[in-house]
Amino acid sequence: MAVDIEQLNPRNEAALRAWWKVGRAATAYRPGKPWPLWEQSRVALRADNPERGVVLLAAIDGREMVGAGLLTRPLVENLHTAMAFAYTRPDREREGIGRRLVEELEVIAAGDGRTTAQSEVYLPPGGTAAGEPFATAMGYDVASRESIKELALTDYLATRDALSARADGYRIVTFDTVCPDEHVESFGRLLGMLMTEVPLGELDLTASEWTPERIRAAERRQVDIGRHVLTAMAIAPDGGVAGVSDVRVDDTDRAHGQVGITIVDPAHRGHRLGLALKVATHDVALASYPGLVSVDTSNADVNAHMNAVNEALGYRTIENLLELQKRL
Ligand SMILES: CC(C)(COP(=O)(O)OP(=O)(O)OC[C@H]1O[C@@H](n2cnc3c(N)ncnc32)[C@H](O)[C@@H]1OP(=O)(O)O)[C@@H](O)C(=O)NCCC(=O)NCCS
Repeated sequence: MAVDIEQLNPRNEAALRAWWKVGRAATAYRPGKPWPLWEQSRVALRADNPERGVVLLAAIDGREMVGAGLLTRPLVENLHTAMAFAYTRPDREREGIGRRLVEELEVIAAGDGRTTAQSEVYLPPGGTAAGEPFATAMGYDVASRESIKELALTDYLATRDALSARADGYRIVTFDTVCPDEHVESFGRLLGMLMTEVPLGELDLTASEWTPERIRAAERRQVDIGRHVLTAMAIAPDGGVAGVSDVRVDDTDRAHGQVGITIVDPAHRGHRLGLALKVATHDVALASYPGLVSVDTSNADVNAHMNAVNEALGYRTIENLLELQKRL
């Protein structure tokens, strides 16, 4: 086969655009918004990020790009892991292109000392797609089963008034991306619980430490790429951050939002903070972006509380997601 695997410089805009088109074609079978808009990818893939290393691979046949690979490596914690994604142009499937991309991504990951490769495959609810047998063929195990859910804002508006979003005894504070000074330290403490408190199945991920400096740097990166992290925090009577949730909207796509993180401190669970926080973020998102059409989220199927909250808001499952893992 005359297909070459090459590393791509994301600052080469023509090459990046060809890479983006392959990914878009390979994910076009999926519902919802499976692939970023060109403007979103163009900005995000080139942005410097000291927290995450990105490698892009291209499968080239003559002058055409027929496959695209993506490796992301966390650079602050979980240094033993990397995420590998392969996309084959639909008219070139089953020629071994996906296999060569993943093998090359794994070589790069292992060369960087990574011992666990992770990936994701999206399936129609109750059904399957090429990525599932492909993952098995590449030696990946299913570490967690999740669902992708989408909320049509028209559905949200229809249920909104019936939702009791009270958080007795707690104060809900909202902001766009930049956390108020007085809460940033406590916010970091809560963020540090994410990896241990969010159900991750068998995924081999460890906790992280979020200092105020790290939070501020992350906020600056979001501002720089035009991403608005519309955040709601529940403040406990003692002033501590008891829970947080966000909806993200990019300047380059004001029609689609995405839930980022949601977490309630175990010490403050059972006060309906999950629902109150989500109603607050969705209200802010709608007020800020009246043209918003949909918001999507993903949760582990075993995460019963979060799933109940999402259902109450009007979220519907549009896909299943397999979180995959392989020891290198
Ligand atoms: C999954 C995907 C990357 C496979 O790409 P590909 O170039 O067709 O894969 P390969 O030809 O290298 O297949 C390698 C092996 O995977 C398995 N496989 C791949 N597609 C399959 C399918 N549709 N049905 C059954 N087995 C399949 C086979 O065992 C195959 O080996 P074989 O052809 O010798 O039998 C491609 O379908 C795609 O881009 N899908 C959308 C994105 C995605 O899901 N990516 C995977 C997770 S990141």
